[in-house]
Amino acid sequence: MSHTGPILEGRGDTDYERYVRVPELLDLQKPVEKLSHPEERLFQTTHQAAELWLHQIDYEVDRAVQLIREDQLIFAADLLDRCKRILTLLRDQIVIVETMAPVDYHVIRTTSLGRGSGQESPGFNRILDVGKRVWPVFEEAMARKGTTLLEIERNPREHHEIFRLVQAMMDYDEAFLNWRFTHMRLAFRIIGSKVLSLKGVPAAQLDAGTREPLFPKLWETISELTAEFKPEY
Ligand code: HEM
Repeated sequence: MSHTGPILEGRGDTDYERYVRVPELLDLQKPVEKLSHPEERLFQTTHQAAELWLHQIDYEVDRAVQLIREDQLIFAADLLDRCKRILTLLRDQIVIVETMAPVDYHVIRTTSLGRGSGQESPGFNRILDVGKRVWPVFEEAMARKGTTLLEIERNPREHHEIFRLVQAMMDYDEAFLNWRFTHMRLAFRIIGSKVLSLKGVPAAQLDAGTREPLFPKLWETISELTAEFKPEY
């Protein structure tokens, strides 16, 4: 009996292909002969990969929320750090799409996308409310420790565990804003800031999203802390 052949069920000649489900995955891409433009492959791949990673963030955020409920704050911070790294990867993906010539995108946009819009991304919409999911459990964790955000910022070493979580939440927030900012710059360089999207929304509206932190109170507290320090001269 051979010890080299696949043992898993599924399509593909190897267990690698069967486990990763490579045939099914590649079936999800438009075949070359159906592409509206050779550059369309990059556009579709980028969006498909983004949906997988956004799905992963959604999953990890649920786990982080549960860990905060259980006062496992360092483990929760580690998962948010992982999510931050995924957001950084998503930002780098956007930069790859910047290599596309605007005129090529217009072929894809006017023949293949229907009325589609990034605003319809289920993965993006799920993680838009990460603030609302994490903030209440974070406040409960602070209450259990009998402390406040300003107090944590004043004495980060005394409140080391929860301070680590605060830093991870800020890192996540910043990575999400950076992703949105880089995407906005991509949209402006490919279609400009003045045109209406395929849904009739002005592209310039993306700007608002680059100014909305998920955890506004974290940033406000930094301002409060700064206000407590006056120059002595
Ligand atoms: C040619 C490249 C791209 C252009 C010109 C572009 C353009 C736009 C525009 C104009 C919007 C505004 C809303 C709307 O469409 O109704 C938008 C939203 C969005 N796009 Fe893109 N996009 C591009 C690539 C990407 C990529 C590569 C991704 C993700 C991997 C992406 C994800 C999104 C998301 C999630 C939104 C909603 C964002 C928000 O509401 O803040 N886009 N895009």
